[in-house]
Amino acid sequence: MTVLEAIQKSADFLAKKGVESARLNAELLLAHQLKLPRMKLYLNFARTLTPPETDGLRELVKRRGLREPLQHITGATAFCGHEIAANRHALVPRPETELLAELGWQFLQGRPALPNHLASALDFGTGTGCLAIALAAKCPTAHVTALDISAEALVLARQNAVQNQVAERMEFLQGDGFAALAGNHGDSRGRSPHRFDLILSNPPYIATAEIATLEPEVRDFDPRAALDGGVDGLDFYRRLAAEAKAFLKPDGKIMVEFGDGQAAAIQTIFETEKWIVEVVREDYSQRARILVAKSSSSSSS
Ligand SMILES: C[S@@+](CC[C@H](N)C(=O)[O-])C[C@H]1O[C@@H](n2cnc3c(N)ncnc32)[C@H](O)[C@@H]1O
Repeated sequence: MTVLEAIQKSADFLAKKGVESARLNAELLLAHQLKLPRMKLYLNFARTLTPPETDGLRELVKRRGLREPLQHITGATAFCGHEIAANRHALVPRPETELLAELGWQFLQGRPALPNHLASALDFGTGTGCLAIALAAKCPTAHVTALDISAEALVLARQNAVQNQVAERMEFLQGDGFAALAGNHGDSRGRSPHRFDLILSNPPYIATAEIATLEPEVRDFDPRAALDGGVDGLDFYRRLAAEAKAFLKPDGKIMVEFGDGQAAAIQTIFETEKWIVEVVREDYSQRARILVAKSSSSSSS
């Protein structure tokens, strides 16, 4: 079988299994099997695959046909120009989340550089660490704390930070929300020693009953804890709005990603907790997806 025939056959199989962009998936799987950049396949259409290459491809295509995410099969994805390893223990980073990373690093880069005072950020629910790593990479003097309830996700996040050479400016904390920060006891009045310039989060935001209706790649392979936002999908925004101020510097900001159609409810949640909502940002498909807010006690914007 030639490269071109392998692509066509795999693409037909994947299309029948309901995989979106079947041809692209087939090309990426073959490129992964042959350890070639995808574009190189086009120069090798007539090359005949060896029997081990054919067997290897068949295995990969079979997995994809069972709707295992491409990124789990190839083991990685790209996020803000960084290679991020992906597996079953963390949500596969989504391209739209890059916008949250960008807003975050633009804010951190604008923080005044004071002696003995590094800008700091908290990534609440870090998963693969993609957001935290992008911040640390773009803000070379910042310190970034990556927090998650999943110990397995944190192992992956740390590996990704090491691979991307930012781990020495990062801290990885496991626990249920802000309780993860409680180990570093606050002062005598219970105030946290952790005060961040920026709290960033792409929390779980799918309503529990909706999870069953999602595409198999998400429903069956992203960790449930990365998806489930409670009965109405908004549990984590309530927690963030109620608890985050205690962990933010007075002029710090919170930036959260949310799902399509949740903007108004989330704005209300934050305003009810006396945050000043600065902006609700749309993604590249003109859907409102990110809220930026500051504490009402803050004096500057
Ligand atoms: C939607 S995923 C986002 C992952 C990553 N930040 C990204 O954007 O790709 C949400 C993350 O929140 C974590 N999480 C869920 N419940 C949590 C909790 N109670 N405390 C801390 N993290 C939690 C999940 O394990 C998951 O990694």
